[in-house]
Amino acid sequence: MRIIYLFFGLICLGCSTGIEPEVEVETAKLDGRQLMEDNCYACHNTQGTDNMLAPPMFRVKDHYWDDNISKDEFVKAIVDWVENPIEENSVMPGARRKFGLMPKQSFEAEELKAIAEYMFDNDLD
Ligand code: HEC
Repeated sequence: MRIIYLFFGLICLGCSTGIEPEVEVETAKLDGRQLMEDNCYACHNTQGTDNMLAPPMFRVKDHYWDDNISKDEFVKAIVDWVENPIEENSVMPGARRKFGLMPKQSFEAEELKAIAEYMFDNDLD
């Protein structure tokens, strides 16, 4: 009998250590770079080709960035814009004239945040 308990005990140990890391991987990190490429690069590609539909992302970042801005402020500004792209909120009048106003699209809030955080943390050139 004791051996059977021991046996189940070991299985349970196996379960908990096996499952926990998987759950962490799923919830801990969204890949901001991949999400940006998937959701934004259809228009904001960085290739500088003739048929661009929007300014490249590093130009966008330049307009939102300044040396004193905190990560929270930057992320909020990007998220606010994407959720509500209206002329009054725009800081890129030249891009608006050239490409027209960015269309309103719906994105997952968490994914949008991960994209904006990636933009803040990384050199987009
Ligand atoms: C369907 C094309 C399209 C997609 C997809 C797109 N954008 Fe844009 N975006 C534009 C255009 C066009 C502009 C330039 C005109 C403007 O500023 O409204 C722009 C401008 C911007 C600006 C600057 C706004 C301003 O004028 O101050 C930000 C910030 C931005 N996009 C973020 C994003 C992010 C983040 C994503 C992905 C989640 C994204 N965009 C996806 C077309 C797009």
